[in-house]
Amino acid sequence: MANQTIKTSLTFILLCQPRILSQTKSQQMSVVPIVDTLEKVYNNVELQRDRYQNMSETFKKEYGVIPDFFARAPGRVNLIGEHVDYSGYGVLPMALEKDVVIATGVKLEENTKPSIAVHISSTQHDHYSSKSVEIPIDNCDPTSLFDHLNIDPKEHHWTNYVLCGIKGILQYIKDNNVSQFKDKSFENKKISISMLLDGNVPSGSGLSSSSAVVCSSALSFSHVLSLTPVISKADMGSLTAKSEQFVGVQSGGMDQAISFLGERNIAMYITFVPKLGAEPVKLPEDVAFVVAHSLAISQKAQTAAFNYNRRVVECRLACVLLARQLLQGNPILVEPKTLKWLQDELKASFETMEQACEQHLKRDAYSMQQVADELGFESVDALQKRYFPTVQLANQSDLKLHDRALHVFTEAHRTFLVEELCNTSEAGDKAHKIGKLMNESHFSGRDLYEASCPELEELTILCRNTKGCLGSRFTGIINNCLSSCKIGAGWGGCTVSAVLVEDLEQFLSTIWKEYYSKRENVPAKETVLFSSLPSAGAAVIKLNN
Ligand code: GLA
Repeated sequence: MANQTIKTSLTFILLCQPRILSQTKSQQMSVVPIVDTLEKVYNNVELQRDRYQNMSETFKKEYGVIPDFFARAPGRVNLIGEHVDYSGYGVLPMALEKDVVIATGVKLEENTKPSIAVHISSTQHDHYSSKSVEIPIDNCDPTSLFDHLNIDPKEHHWTNYVLCGIKGILQYIKDNNVSQFKDKSFENKKISISMLLDGNVPSGSGLSSSSAVVCSSALSFSHVLSLTPVISKADMGSLTAKSEQFVGVQSGGMDQAISFLGERNIAMYITFVPKLGAEPVKLPEDVAFVVAHSLAISQKAQTAAFNYNRRVVECRLACVLLARQLLQGNPILVEPKTLKWLQDELKASFETMEQACEQHLKRDAYSMQQVADELGFESVDALQKRYFPTVQLANQSDLKLHDRALHVFTEAHRTFLVEELCNTSEAGDKAHKIGKLMNESHFSGRDLYEASCPELEELTILCRNTKGCLGSRFTGIINNCLSSCKIGAGWGGCTVSAVLVEDLEQFLSTIWKEYYSKRENVPAKETVLFSSLPSAGAAVIKLNN
């Protein structure tokens, strides 16, 4: 990235209100778009018009002015490729129309210590309390901002996700050594940023509501700093994936990648190696993808120590043990690597990797001590320091390395096959084959990754047994059980089913009748049961009032 461009942009921010810089054609292809109508983003524009109008009014009540712009980032549904991104493998999600929008306003204050002050509030005041943070700027040097913004993962406040997005951009500024705040005209200025969030991605549903907050916040902040035309979509995806880890979850990069790289009517095969990339995937036209919420809620940050991060550690340790057996010289890896890295090193097929799991990993669970002994580490602490220094696991035993690795290799393989099926020009029964792979994905996620729960089982079985359904699986979910419960209990979130378009209406009404109408306190239908086409990725929206 040309430093000069960044510097020019940053000079600009502190002099005046954010504004759109002119973009070259090629940049337009790869940077987050700045649009002036809702039609460019949404299908259902009427509903959105009211929503944006309400946001503007609430913003005015709260901050006294109307917002300068809106930053919008979508949630996503993952069609296949579950729990493989943090092992380096490709995933196949699509962006949803459901999203998080941040109305943003900026003002500059003179004669005060240089700082960035951020005021964060939500349209759902009753559930989400407001918060303000002020980040000092040392010696007018913006690279200092990064170190001054602290996010405490132990203090769960929803605004932590907003701060993660901001911190991601500050990290970008630091890594790119953007020191332009030293400019005289920035002295004694406080940049005061007001944000009002509105989201309709159901929280804890596995549709990536928290990442949509991180992405929209990073986008809002980057636009304030006039960095929108400078940072590519892929870089936005990568930096937000890293920065979401500030809340303590070691998640992979799928959610943030699709939020920025998603496109209308196109699902994406997202790959992470050697760097973030997205290949368009043509979904079969006779199939609709239906998202159904099991109504069991799962929150990834609150439970990371017991659940999500645990799976990350299991995959890393499986990789170390397999590398020891399979690589020449039987090395003890000096740093954590992914299962995909290992497969690439070996130039092996998926089948070979699956056999390697059977041959070299024991089916019974390992304890951390056993892994340390097998690798010749003097203590569990030494093992942890090397392979997962920032992760604390609540339980040091019951590590099911064989099952986790086998899930990853088979799931990565299935995802690859679905991508291939979608993009092949050959006619044939693509839709049924995709449905079958989705079912297999579910069974593997349930049995080998222990990621299902009674609600998800009931719902996927019901979906599979309903006319028109070709396959059904859980999607993008995180274990929500707390320390006291056994791993495998307490998962939640949504299912995704492939349904023949001709049977869609009947399918939706059967599922509503058989699953939701029998339960109490069910949220509005459109929030728990809907069919979705791939929607547009993140955008800055500047409406002409
Ligand atoms: C969460 C993470 C993703 C991915 C999915 C599981 O959504 O944020 O990176 O690992 O879980 O597929």
